[in-house]
Amino acid sequence: MNFHTRKWVKPEDLNPNGTLFGGRLLEWIDEEAALYTIVQLENRRIVTKFISEINFIAAPVQGDIIEMGIEVVRFGKSSITLRCEVRNKISREQVLEIEQIVMVNLGADGKPTPHGKTRVEYVRDRLAEKEGQKPGAA
Ligand SMILES: CC(C)(COP(=O)(O)OP(=O)(O)OC[C@H]1O[C@@H](n2cnc3c(N)ncnc32)[C@H](O)[C@@H]1OP(=O)(O)O)[C@@H](O)C(=O)NCCC(=O)NCCS
Repeated sequence: MNFHTRKWVKPEDLNPNGTLFGGRLLEWIDEEAALYTIVQLENRRIVTKFISEINFIAAPVQGDIIEMGIEVVRFGKSSITLRCEVRNKISREQVLEIEQIVMVNLGADGKPTPHGKTRVEYVRDRLAEKEGQKPGAA
């Protein structure tokens, strides 16, 4: 699993208990899942369809740095299923786990449409491939 994004827990992110507000963390995760999906499926029209059980394992406090990890569980026809883990950047203590986040690829009509993807792709490989296709490229 790649941990792409770090977040710094600030005063405005806390609940009345003085720990990270769960809603804030879910907002960060939903955005992370959306960005990951847009890059993978090469389409900006995607939506979150389903989020499975959310396990809040430990509560970060103000000043903590957390990092969010996403991996692909499954490529469907119009969907992609992701798994998410959040951990403390410094101590590596687990903060949260979500086994399934289902994102759906939409067409211009707003309806689910096949994305045609079957494996994780990397932007650097796509760019290298494009470069290789240019006339005259070695
Ligand atoms: C996403 C939406 C277009 C899907 O519509 P739908 O009628 O369920 O579409 P489908 O039945 O064709 O399902 C689309 C895909 O989602 C999957 N799916 C649907 N319901 C699911 C569920 N409860 N759990 C897991 N996957 C589900 C289907 O298996 C299908 O995947 P596949 O094509 O890879 O096999 C529609 O439900 C919607 O607009 N929901 C609101 C989304 C939203 O507003 N999200 C929050 C803001 S981003």
